[in-house]
Amino acid sequence: MNYVASCAFGIEAILKREMHALGLTVTQSTNGKIYFTGDESALFLANLHLRTADRIYIVIGQGRVRTYDELFEFVKQLPLKNYLSSEGKYHILAKSQKSKLYSLRDIQTISKKALIENLKGAYQKNTFQEEGEYYRLSIELLNDQVECLLDTSGEALHKRGYRLKQGEAPIKETLAAALVLLSFYEASRVLYDPFCGSGTIAIEAAMIAKNIAPGLNREFAFLSFPWVDKSRFIVQKKEAFKAINQDIEGKIYASDIDANVLSVAKENALEAGVEDVIDFSFSDFQDFSFDKDYGIIITNPPYGQRLETKEDAEVLYKRIGDTFRHLTTFSFYLLTSYPGVEGLLRKRADRTRVLFNGNIKTRYYQYYGPKPR
Ligand SMILES: C[S@@+](CC[C@H](N)C(=O)[O-])C[C@H]1O[C@@H](n2cnc3c(N)ncnc32)[C@H](O)[C@@H]1O
Repeated sequence: MNYVASCAFGIEAILKREMHALGLTVTQSTNGKIYFTGDESALFLANLHLRTADRIYIVIGQGRVRTYDELFEFVKQLPLKNYLSSEGKYHILAKSQKSKLYSLRDIQTISKKALIENLKGAYQKNTFQEEGEYYRLSIELLNDQVECLLDTSGEALHKRGYRLKQGEAPIKETLAAALVLLSFYEASRVLYDPFCGSGTIAIEAAMIAKNIAPGLNREFAFLSFPWVDKSRFIVQKKEAFKAINQDIEGKIYASDIDANVLSVAKENALEAGVEDVIDFSFSDFQDFSFDKDYGIIITNPPYGQRLETKEDAEVLYKRIGDTFRHLTTFSFYLLTSYPGVEGLLRKRADRTRVLFNGNIKTRYYQYYGPKPR
């Protein structure tokens, strides 16, 4: 089967690395999409284990369309019967970029009509009640190339199931995982997040350290598809449980000056099964003692928009620079949308990446420290 894993712009390389590590066969990658092939177990693996993917889709068909008639014919000849039961409820989403067909509403309506025509022929029946299991299909056009994708994840994969409540400006779990995977962090090292908010970075790092699969605590759309072998999925899930590592060497420290958000972070960590490796504390980042050598700081300080004034932001980022400059054995990673941060920190990053936190364009400043001796 052909699949595609979608992700936020900027983290394709990390997602691809994760996919290779899982043994998935990657065939092609474009902006925000990595294609792969495999059997049903590849679908289970991807949904259960990928930390930076947004959703996993089955590629039902690809083609080229420049008119609505061509779109209708494209959808009508897709092998939909292989994936959609006659009892299902079918929802179509449309996306279009740089293509002749651009009205999302028309693309949606025409595709839905063609889908029903297709199923009428395939199932030899005239009416579809659409009361059964839910199928979310996506018709996506780019440069007049079209693809029909079937969502197998359901809720987006950043919803791991552990976030019961959230702080004011949480980053997505998938982005937090990408920040950790882009860093030098490994389970034997000490990690700090001194602006931890609801704890997303610390929790994702702890899940990586303990090898907890991100999808262990949630449902997936594919579990309601009649043709999916659920018993095989249960076996894979059991294997993932067995692979959890309870004894990790390092420690994770997370702190914040907001007591409410810290209690949310603690609840989330408990829910994620990682409260034993994270030490949460109520502290201003300047008073915190970064007392282990070769530590790794991965953090997401307040963005400009959320600080009262520009002066507040400048003072904060200068203070961050003054505090962390002395930690000469540390590696330091900072995600923010605040402009001119390197100037305020008075240090050029070894590498900067543009990453998206939802719709907010942010930069990930990476300052590499020495390797531990
Ligand atoms: C952008 S939020 C972090 C969100 C977090 N990454 C998450 O996913 O929930 C920034 C956090 O910095 C905290 N903060 C602001 N000033 C601080 C300071 N001086 N010391 C420690 N934490 C501070 C805020 O309370 C807020 O929770």
